[in-house]
Amino acid sequence: MDEIKAYLQPGLEQVNVFINMALRSDIPLLDSTNRSLREHPGKMMRPMLALLVADAAGEAAPPPEDTYRYAAATELLHNATLLHDDVVDGATERRGLPTVASILGGSTAVLIGDYWLEKCLQLVLGARREADRVLRLFAQTIGHLTEGELLQMQKASTADTTQADYLRIIYGKTASLFESAAMSAAISVAASEELIRAMGDYAYLLGLAFQIKDDIFDYEEEAADIGKPVGIDLMEQKITQPLLCVLEKASSAEQQEIRSLVKNIPDHPENVDRVRAFVKENDGVALAKDVMDFYVEKAISCLESLPESKEKLYLAKLARFVGQRDK
Ligand code: IPE
Ligand code: IPE
Ligand code: MG
Ligand code: MG
Repeated sequence: MDEIKAYLQPGLEQVNVFINMALRSDIPLLDSTNRSLREHPGKMMRPMLALLVADAAGEAAPPPEDTYRYAAATELLHNATLLHDDVVDGATERRGLPTVASILGGSTAVLIGDYWLEKCLQLVLGARREADRVLRLFAQTIGHLTEGELLQMQKASTADTTQADYLRIIYGKTASLFESAAMSAAISVAASEELIRAMGDYAYLLGLAFQIKDDIFDYEEEAADIGKPVGIDLMEQKITQPLLCVLEKASSAEQQEIRSLVKNIPDHPENVDRVRAFVKENDGVALAKDVMDFYVEKAISCLESLPESKEKLYLAKLARFVGQRDK
């Protein structure tokens, strides 16, 4: 991952210029909060994905300005959703630091998230080629994100999440933006329609694997140093891949019992430990890793139609990294 990041450094710097320019404000509360958020940028997965796709699918190097604009827009949208998500989840910690929501309150965090969202759209609107098409992609993703979060919320109170529901939730929450990041990058370099679709498929499969990995972290025994608390998905009654895997193998009586434990967590928080024990006894984490690996390999298979290049190799590496990442 460090190797890929070092390779992409010049491009990422351009992306950062776009992001920092977009976020300037003459309102001190907004400007200072933006600056401190920018001091801890996170992994920058989506711009990295976009830059690799643009170089792998495009003929001219370096790519056009639009590539950097779209890549910056994905990171702005991602951060806007995190600002909002931490309000929705009542989260206190992100990237190893207190969340904006916990320091300045939910209202401020929502408004700052809206601002980042607007800057994302402005960056897209300023592009030279196909801004309307990319805007439509991002708009769809915002819809999927909201639907994913709301379906997750609805399922939390009924505890009847199926594998299909889960896939829809994680596609909406995470994979859809990966997909838009890759497709907009391919569009920015005028790739063929076939290649644009292949890059979108690669990226959404990668996004599914990425979110499954995130959900696995939550069940890991030793609290991994991922910069946010672990072990909270169940407290929030989220049924994710490790639990789904063990439910699938359980008798229907057991399934009913476990789902009813999850449903009653608000009144019986001690149920969390029982459900976690059930997942552990039945190797839920290992089974979930198999599901994740399936998506990683499926993502890599979408790279076949790309011409050979260093970036193509890095896209495959990025997919394997997602499976092995420790934060
Ligand atoms: C966090 O995304 C939210 C999920 C989709 C799991 P990242 O893990 O990419 O967050 P940062 O930007 O690196 O902090
Ligand atoms: C991912 O949701 C955030 C979005 C993509 C909106 P989660 O709530 O599962 O992720 P973390 O754990 O807060 O990063
Ligand atoms: Mg959250
Ligand atoms: Mg959430």
